[in-house]
Amino acid sequence: MESFFSSLNEEYIKKVIYRNREIATADIYEFIDMFFNQTRWQSHFTGVFPTTFRLFERKRLSIKSWEVHLPFLRGLSDMSTKEREDIFKRLGDLSPWHFDHEILPGVRTGSFNRPDYADADFRGVALLDPGHMTKFFQKCAPGGICGKSLLDVACNSGAYCFLAHVFGAKRVLGVDVRQHWIDQAEFVRAIKFPRSTDIEFRRMDIAGYLNLSEERFDITIFKGIFYHLPDPIGVLGRLCDLTKETILVDTDSSDAVPESCLTAIKESKTQVMSGVDGLAWLPGGPAAIRPILEFKGFEFTEVKYWHRQTSPNKRGRFSIVGSRSPITM
Ligand SMILES: C[S@@+](CC[C@H](N)C(=O)[O-])C[C@H]1O[C@@H](n2cnc3c(N)ncnc32)[C@H](O)[C@@H]1O
Repeated sequence: MESFFSSLNEEYIKKVIYRNREIATADIYEFIDMFFNQTRWQSHFTGVFPTTFRLFERKRLSIKSWEVHLPFLRGLSDMSTKEREDIFKRLGDLSPWHFDHEILPGVRTGSFNRPDYADADFRGVALLDPGHMTKFFQKCAPGGICGKSLLDVACNSGAYCFLAHVFGAKRVLGVDVRQHWIDQAEFVRAIKFPRSTDIEFRRMDIAGYLNLSEERFDITIFKGIFYHLPDPIGVLGRLCDLTKETILVDTDSSDAVPESCLTAIKESKTQVMSGVDGLAWLPGGPAAIRPILEFKGFEFTEVKYWHRQTSPNKRGRFSIVGSRSPITM
């Protein structure tokens, strides 16, 4: 609190001469509210939430020009009723959402999910706040994601791509096999980052993409997809070859097999969160993945977590990061 008031003193009060005490008090209350009312959209910061502003200040992260975010930052109050209704309708039409994007100040995509859908393939979509990847983007390279390129495999509606972009990534590519998710990603981009030229989405099967592309990325995210592929080892190996610095592998696992083994599973080809081939593989644990990363030159590996037997069907989940140079996650 003390440092807050001292920064207030340095950054704010000295620059202003008030005509009387009431105006000064009102202005300072306004300034305090600006920092402590987390739900208020702040024109003072060229329009961002206080949490976002503080994050960039504190972490000294580079951020793209606020200008590219302006339509997002305009806020609901500046929109016509028609504009707002159109956006809300589209958000409903595009549901279910897996990523809970803050699409407009105070408006999150998850609130447009319905409790049920006529089409069974749209049911059971878990909602996820992409903010949990913030730490990864800060640590994935010595200076974080800023200035790096990112490939997000199975990007869904692109939330990690947007987060990386906001943290200063120079190019991001999200690949997902389903039009449903790519439509969401493009919609979010159109609302939040309409002028950005360095975020790209492609609707492609990842194996097909890797057959065609030679593009190398600094950072690769391979999250929520290993256990939906018929040849996850082949895909992972190729991704490693195309990754210059760091790869994140985050996957469901099976507690029914030894840690270093894989077990085959069958899954829906049409459920929106599943793979498209029907055949997939679960690794027993990090020991099934680590040797592949090491073989591909990711000398430094770190298991971020491994939750075992988290569900009755003996599925666990783990996350492992491989890097070509030392980083601490
Ligand atoms: C469980 S979700 C994971 C989404 C996100 N990566 C995450 O970590 O939350 C699986 C995603 O993989 C996509 N997907 C499934 N099979 C794919 C394939 N062969 N190629 C590309 N994307 C695929 C699905 O459409 C879905 O968006």
